[in-house]
Amino acid sequence: GLIYYNGEYINDNIAISPDDRGYQFGDGIYEVVRVYEGRLFTAEAHFERLLRSASEIQIELASTVDDYIAICERLIAENRVQDGLIYVQVTRGIAKRNHIFPESTEPVTLIYSYDSARPVQGMEEGVKVITLEDIRWLRCDIKSLNLLGNVLAKQQAHIADAVEAVQVRDGIVTEGASSNVFIIKDGTLYTHPANHLILNGITRKVIKRCAEELNIPFVEQAFTPDALYDADEVIISSTSLEVTPVTQIDDQVMAIGPLTRKLQQAFKEKIY
Ligand code: PDD
Repeated sequence: GLIYYNGEYINDNIAISPDDRGYQFGDGIYEVVRVYEGRLFTAEAHFERLLRSASEIQIELASTVDDYIAICERLIAENRVQDGLIYVQVTRGIAKRNHIFPESTEPVTLIYSYDSARPVQGMEEGVKVITLEDIRWLRCDIKSLNLLGNVLAKQQAHIADAVEAVQVRDGIVTEGASSNVFIIKDGTLYTHPANHLILNGITRKVIKRCAEELNIPFVEQAFTPDALYDADEVIISSTSLEVTPVTQIDDQVMAIGPLTRKLQQAFKEKIY
């Protein structure tokens, strides 16, 4: 399919510089945006977060939220994407290897789309997660290309036949390796506050709105692994997972509860 690379729409494979700082240092940022029935979902929020991530690591972007949306829309049209995802990556640029920021280089932007169906099976039947020590850095609020901590955690989950590794830092559940984590206890929805220890998920924001509409109290308060095991319902969320119920945490089996189903329904109504 058609790919956007540094200002051009290219059909062939792109040539990547060996000196791109994205490869050498993971020095860049990214977003994953949803497409439902050929339409972007919450794209503005994603690109606002991209601009914030860029600014937090001092990458100066020339493009606006609208510029990114226009590129995505062209890719969706030309590639005839129905249900899919768009991957957006910006690196600091190309320069001879040196940890220090290069003095003059332009950011390198890569955007491509791919087909991806809604995760209906996981949403319906639930998924297994494991808990794991959070060994990542202390700026998880930046959607950085440095994903080694996340990748190692996810691989450990995969080996344990789980879809997600719930991260535990200093006795507190932060988030998943590529998702946010919520518990429901006595009718209240709890999730970690949006600070430097988690990515402030766009899906998390949509869930917050759904909860408000359903009169489910939404409390941004950290909780322990014990509270996770003890919860009435557990959910993980992301652009690709939407509202996915957790039916097993480590060795403990969990039921899918009624508030999870209500949130899933409310979420679906925001899509269609
Ligand atoms: N992951 N936390 C982490 C560490 C994530 O990587 C993600 C997203 C989320 C959920 O954010 P959102 O709801 O905005 O997708 C939380 C993307 C999908 C990924 O890396 O593939």
